[in-house]
Parts: sequence; C-alpha cells; structure tokens
Amino acid sequence: ALVSMRQLLDHAAEHGYGIPAFNVNNLEQVRAIMEAAAEVNAPAILQASAGARKYAGEPFLRHLILAAIEEYPDIPVVLHQDHGASAAVCVQAIRSGFSSVMMDGSLREDAKTPASYDYNVAVTAKVVEISHAVGVTVEGELGCLGSLETGMAGEEDGVGAEGCLTHDQLLTDPEEAAHFVKATKVDALAIAIGTSHGAYKFTQPPTGQVLRIDRIKEIHARIPDTHLVMHGSSSVPQEWLKIIHEFGGDIGETYGVPVEEIQEGIKHGVRKVNIDTDLRLAATGAIRKSLATDPKNFDPRKMFQASLVAMRDICKQRFEAFGTAGQA
Ligand code: G3H
Ligand code: 13P
Ligand code: ZN
Repeated sequence: ALVSMRQLLDHAAEHGYGIPAFNVNNLEQVRAIMEAAAEVNAPAILQASAGARKYAGEPFLRHLILAAIEEYPDIPVVLHQDHGASAAVCVQAIRSGFSSVMMDGSLREDAKTPASYDYNVAVTAKVVEISHAVGVTVEGELGCLGSLETGMAGEEDGVGAEGCLTHDQLLTDPEEAAHFVKATKVDALAIAIGTSHGAYKFTQPPTGQVLRIDRIKEIHARIPDTHLVMHGSSSVPQEWLKIIHEFGGDIGETYGVPVEEIQEGIKHGVRKVNIDTDLRLAATGAIRKSLATDPKNFDPRKMFQASLVAMRDICKQRFEAFGTAGQA
C-alpha cells in the first residue's frame, strides 16, 4: 500500500532503524527493490528525480509504482520526489500521486547555483504549506552536499553545488537547522555531513571515520523531531567496480561511504538513506559481465535479469544493515 513518508519515518525513529531510499527509473530497479523488500519484509521508499520522470515519462513511472503496489499489497511503499528544484516540480509530483516530496531549496532552480538561506526558507515553507494540506510529507535540504576531501561539490549530473568551497559551508550548521525547521515546518531534513553525490566521493580507501558523525549528533540534539536524511550514501561496492573494470569499463579508483558509518548515523537520528549510485554500478557491472560472458546472446532479458539480481542483492544487504528488514 502507498503510505506517507512521515508515518514510515516516525515508525523508524520510534524503533531506531533507517530506511534506504533507492532511486528508480525503470522496471528492473522497481522490481529489484520490491523483490528485496518482500524477501526481508521491509518497507520501501522509491524515489524519482526529475531526470527519472524525463527518462521514463510521467505516466510510465507512475504506473510502474502502481504496479509495484498492486503486486506487493503487504509492503508499505512511499513514492518520493527526489531533489525537487522548485515548488512547481513538487506540485507536479503531488498531482502524479507522490506521497512525499523533497524541496531542495539549497540550490537555485537551475539545481546548480547555491541559493541564499532566505530563498531556501521561503520556497520550502511554501511547499510545506501546499503539501501538508493534502497529507504529503516534505523533505528540505540545508547545507551543501559536497566532498570534505576535495572541498568540491560531487562531480555528477545536475545535483551538486558548484560554489561551495569551504569546509564550513559544506556542513549543515545545527543552529541554522533549528531555525530552518521552525520557519518551514519540514518533516525531514537532508543534511550535509561529508557525503557527496555520485561514484567519486573519496579517492582513497576510507581509514577511520569519513563522515562527521559529531555533526549529526549536534543537529539531532537541536531538532530531535525532524527526521534526518543522508544523501550521497552509496558505498561504491569494490566488488562491482572490479567486475566493471574486468569487462571493459573504466570508472577508475574510487570509494564510497562505508555501511558501518551509515549505521553509526542511524544510531544518531538518520532515518532516510539515499542510494542511487550503488544500484547503477551493480547494474552496469552485471550487464557488462552478461554481455561479455555470453557473446551469442541477443535476448536483452538475460542482461536485464542479471542487472535485476545484482541490484536486488544490494537492496537486501542495505535493508538488513539499516535494520529495515522485518519492519514492514
Ligand atoms: O541525487 C541524485 C540522484 O542520484 C538522481 O540522479 O538526476 O541523474 O536521476 P538523476
Ligand atoms: P548516491 O549518488 O551516493 O547514490 O546518492 C544518491 C542520492 O543522494 C539521491 O538523492
Ligand atoms: Zn541526493
């Protein structure tokens, strides 16, 4: 059944677990997440970016989710708009049936330029007013999701600020977070604590702590009733990188957020954990391997099925690691 994000996150907070929010664009991703959720009895957050709606087309995306709900009536499902760049995008998502929206007012409407704090407050408060009137949950974002290592925003596609260069600008300020939540009434808040979007988070294997867990604690202490969201939470599985490279890919050496650090974050108030890149890497590796090891095959279902199995494994691992398993 389609449920509200607030309901799901409240339950997660009450019982101290986290919920992975996986990005979806196509049938195989939706199916991989739902099969994994059903297998371990976990609630599922399916999130779609503006890019996903552009790729699949709004009706196809909507019906994919409806199909998931129909096929798995016992699994609670949230359909969430990822990184809404304007109030208009959020309203379009609500009209399309989403039960939750993210108003990312940390960036201007171009989704690139850092926005002023006042703009962020104004646009997010507006989206909250509209959304709450129809029972839709709102996630806001405060801070610049970048890389603490390079001091630069994550390198990828459309999501990530170009102007955030100092250490301090990158991290969410606890004081400001308290003010932001009070002024906007958001249900959930995406915070910058050292993660960045995409595959290129860290250039060296993590030694010791890569996230600012201390900052998560400080923010959680100030806004205990607001659910914290961790974007850029892919772990960049080295086994899939190896397969991609073995079968002709060239992603290079790169590292993600260790699952243990996400678990630490969950202990201190993180409830929603955004993951896109890990499923992309698993799908790419599985398809490359399938094509290379079965050169006579020209039935695309074989490679797509391989990608589904690879993504499903990751989903299952995350449901288990974050304590989501058994909570449906
Ligand atoms: O945070 C961004 C997600 O990874 C979605 O990426 O805009 O390419 O669909 P996308
Ligand atoms: P990753 O690129 O680390 O998977 O993060 C995805 C994300 O934050 C989507 O909003
Ligand atoms: Zn994100």
